Amino acid sequence: MPQTRTFLNDIVSSPVNLALVALICYFSYKLIARTFAKAPSASDPKHRKIEKMPRRDFTLAELREYDGLRRDDGRILVGVLGKVFDMSAGATFYGPGGPYSVFAGRDASRALATFSVDAKLFKDEDDDLSDLTSSELSNVKEWEQQFLEKYPVVGKLLKSGEQPTNYNEVLENEVASKLNAISTAISSKSSSGSGAGDASSEENKKEL
Ligand code: HEM
Repeated sequence: MPQTRTFLNDIVSSPVNLALVALICYFSYKLIARTFAKAPSASDPKHRKIEKMPRRDFTLAELREYDGLRRDDGRILVGVLGKVFDMSAGATFYGPGGPYSVFAGRDASRALATFSVDAKLFKDEDDDLSDLTSSELSNVKEWEQQFLEKYPVVGKLLKSGEQPTNYNEVLENEVASKLNAISTAISSKSSSGSGAGDASSEENKKEL
């Protein structure tokens, strides 16, 4: 085996060759690791794609069900300052075993305000946060802003006795008022092109 020995000697004696061999080993390992890596399983809540949820409001008790564990879909909802966020996309943070799993299915306002994950901070009654300092309140408002940029809001977190919003009605009203605005715009356009008198009526409108 003299040829093999010279080849090995060549590699060991030159730092450049050694570095090349190390690089080849590293990239081969990466390639093999990637090839054999387990594909994310559909049942793993951290990789599961969850459909957008229709708008609705929640009581504190209803929210509890959405802790990423109790429901088959693994959905995670978190209440912050009266809003309910769908944080399912952040399952690595809020899902079972995640660092902030205590927030899942809960009103997390107090914990966010005080920068704590203490389970005692999550109450089963309304929390009006009236004892918080202004800096704690501004902490939680900052978190809320951050979440608004990252997670969809599903609806309101209802105070006890508060009635849920009928979002179908809200949607119908929104559509109706948009249609109204469109038809007003169309009719004012068509009448503005139909005679000199109309120009003054436009002026009158401006004065009004
Ligand atoms: C030693 C203490 C802590 C460390 C080192 C730490 C570290 C981190 C890191 C690295 C992230 C990820 C940032 C990103 O990728 O966007 C994060 C996110 C976060 N942390 Fe902490 N954290 C700590 C304590 C806390 C505490 C006490 C709270 C309680 C309010 C908290 C609440 C959060 C929240 C809400 C997020 C955002 C997750 C999201 O984007 O949905 N962290 N933290």
